[in-house]
Amino acid sequence: MNIKDLYINFFVSKGHVEIPSAPIVPENDPSVLFNTAGMQPLIPYLMGEIHPSGNRLCDAQKCVRLTDLEEVGDKTHHTFFEMLGNWSLGNYFKKESITYSYEFLTNVLKLPKERLAITVFKGDEEIPKDEESAECWKKMGIKEEKIAYLGREDNFWAAGETGPCGTDTEIFYWRSEEEVPTTFDPTDDRWVEIWNNVFMEYNRKSDYTIELLPKKNVDTGMGLERIVAVVEGVNDNYTSSIWIDIIKKIEEITELPYEGNEKGMRIIADHIRTSVFIAADPAQIVPSNTDQGYILRRLIRRAIRYAKKLNIDINSNWDKIIAKAIIAKYETYYPELKQQQERILNILYEEKNKFNRTLERGLKEFEKVARKQTEIDKITAFHLYDTYGFPIELTTELAMERNMKVDEKGFQEKMKEHQEKSRTASAGKFKGGLAGNSEIETKYHTATHLLNAALKIVLGDDTHQRGSNITEERMRFDFNCDHKLTDEEKRQVEDLVNQFIADDLPVKKEEMTKQNALEIGAEAMFIEKYPEVLNVYFIGEISKEICGGPHVKSTKELGHFKIKKEEASSAGVRRIKAVLED
Ligand code: ALA
Repeated sequence: MNIKDLYINFFVSKGHVEIPSAPIVPENDPSVLFNTAGMQPLIPYLMGEIHPSGNRLCDAQKCVRLTDLEEVGDKTHHTFFEMLGNWSLGNYFKKESITYSYEFLTNVLKLPKERLAITVFKGDEEIPKDEESAECWKKMGIKEEKIAYLGREDNFWAAGETGPCGTDTEIFYWRSEEEVPTTFDPTDDRWVEIWNNVFMEYNRKSDYTIELLPKKNVDTGMGLERIVAVVEGVNDNYTSSIWIDIIKKIEEITELPYEGNEKGMRIIADHIRTSVFIAADPAQIVPSNTDQGYILRRLIRRAIRYAKKLNIDINSNWDKIIAKAIIAKYETYYPELKQQQERILNILYEEKNKFNRTLERGLKEFEKVARKQTEIDKITAFHLYDTYGFPIELTTELAMERNMKVDEKGFQEKMKEHQEKSRTASAGKFKGGLAGNSEIETKYHTATHLLNAALKIVLGDDTHQRGSNITEERMRFDFNCDHKLTDEEKRQVEDLVNQFIADDLPVKKEEMTKQNALEIGAEAMFIEKYPEVLNVYFIGEISKEICGGPHVKSTKELGHFKIKKEEASSAGVRRIKAVLED
């Protein structure tokens, strides 16, 4: 029997009711993006509400923790994990909780008690030393030398700034081939924490003072990935029975051994697993630039980058193979994975295509900058984000590989500025009249600039507008190009324009001299026809064009861009007809 089942069966045999894992995205708590602990969905009950399943509960809760995202790639970190937990809602307290934990570890999992060590709260001016827990452990046969007394930073647990909290006792295991030391040194990392028993008897209020809760509760948490590795005697979590099949699949896809390629394989395995679970969540998350959607996007994009490093053909169905292996592995516990399989695979596929189309160009752009600069300034970081879809973390990671610094603070400021501009722009939609142009024609004007910018990215910088015509029904755009566009090129152009639209880029007008406009490299079709002082329209950072307008305030207003036709116009000039749909 596997450890998850052993755990649930054990606690059920001790009078606990097994409850299903709550979704990863909290249902009634907008203050956190994901559940990070088994107790999170139980907060109201820890605060005193009556739980319909009683006052002894246990489960395996799906959790996502992002604080260690950058650490994923080593032997022990994961973004998604299952937390085994048992709770007493005002029923038993320290003695029973410690007895159960000890019995499960030594009787069921057969871990030798000599390899266990314990920390308990040492006491401070507000909360007394936890003598009771220490005494219980000693009664179980744990020697005094194996008990360490630590302060708030180690032996006090709270899920957030406010809410239920309490002192805890943590169980450590000696995970080394070397002889177990007689005295426990909690700073020696060969001792790994395997289980945390929190005695939730306090509520922390918004003024940071604590008060007693109506009942004394127990909240425990044991990370499944870690305990499985401990029991199976492996040092690298990714070689335990939880991961081995997934790693094998990645070995098959890459035709490379795990040994020597651990970091990339771990990142791919971890990030795809987390993405699968997020995509299957009832909250219906899709990759985006905010909140959970942004996390999903970051995870998929980071996995893709490492897949590329391992020479995986990104356009192949590598992501599908891995995701399916993960679904098959977990579907008996989490049937939603199978039910949502199509959605999951689609999300991966679409995000992969979206990113893959700009990744290569983005990496080139990064290399170009890295050759010239010693630091990634905020403009570059924002440009990589805005035009090539690079999450800031990806830019930082690339920079770190080259010992370069990134102006992350500046980037965040620019992001804020950008968001504010888009908001103001949307709020002021079509204020001030449109000089005889209809709303739809105005949209087509802006779409023309986007198309021009996209064509430059796909076909090269020397692609320029040669003519344009707009009606209420469609836009027509002529440009220099020596060949018929391939289907792939058309799709790339279309997707780029739609990405610019989705990115909600602000459209800004600036008055300047013709000389100045030329110097900043603004696009101009017939520069000699323009007056000495003219208007340049900027769209985010992706387009600057001399133009009389009018334009929309923000690209988001354009709807969906679709190419209807691509044909020859004259020698060396191609013509695109396109529409904007709702
Ligand atoms: N809620 C406790 C933890 O996450 C058990 O460690």
